[in-house]
Amino acid sequence: MARRPVIAGNWKMHNLQQDAIDLTNGVMQALKEEDKSALPEVIIAPTFTSLYAANKALKDCGCGKVRLAAQNCYFEEKGAFTGECSVQMLKDTGCEYIIIGHSERREYFGETDEMVNKKAKAILSNGLIPIICCGESLEQREAGVTDYHIASQITKALRDLSASDVAKSIIAYEPIWAIGTGKTCDSTEANRVISMIRNVVKGLYDANTADSIRILYGGSVKPETIKEQMAQSDIDGALVGGASLKADSFAAIVKGAM
Ligand code: PGA
Repeated sequence: MARRPVIAGNWKMHNLQQDAIDLTNGVMQALKEEDKSALPEVIIAPTFTSLYAANKALKDCGCGKVRLAAQNCYFEEKGAFTGECSVQMLKDTGCEYIIIGHSERREYFGETDEMVNKKAKAILSNGLIPIICCGESLEQREAGVTDYHIASQITKALRDLSASDVAKSIIAYEPIWAIGTGKTCDSTEANRVISMIRNVVKGLYDANTADSIRILYGGSVKPETIKEQMAQSDIDGALVGGASLKADSFAAIVKGAM
């Protein structure tokens, strides 16, 4: 089955509102000549405070080539949860996707597999798409428990989700040791782990669901690495951090995935 590629830019904690507007416009400008139907699904994920501004820039352009994601959410609908944002609030701000379970959130903010699962359910029940991150540390890789760890993260993240919800979800495999380090995971190894993830999905659901879910690679993706990554059988795109902060490098990655 042909899966539509996805290139998502995770801006992390960067960019004030005007920077976000400039970068959003820069990305759209760089993709101006491209035929929309030939493009991958292009997603940008600004911080909460820049979502409104980025969404306005996207709407003003009206090209429909770039979509909006949040970097996190809370799973409750509303209430006394100081400092949190619900899925509905993010949807109201124009988000169609929400990144959950990023290793930085797991490491610095105590996000657990159970929270990732609750967030995935809240996202899907509001009609949005979760981008579920998973990945092993260098210690885990060296101890030979990469596959075990990732399979466990994915199994817990997907608990009690329907096959149709899983089929439209996105997973991002991001080895922690490759994030922000400039050290990209070898493409064939990334592809091996990603096909292992697809197999886990097949075991939990069925072949159709496993064939439909998009699984991205993340970790020091650059314009120079994307072609080789996209040439792999199971890599459906990329979650890009550092290289998404400049319009030209992000657009080059998008074009490299066409
Ligand atoms: P990086 O970040 O591209 O800067 O390595 C990827 C990510 O954390 O999503």
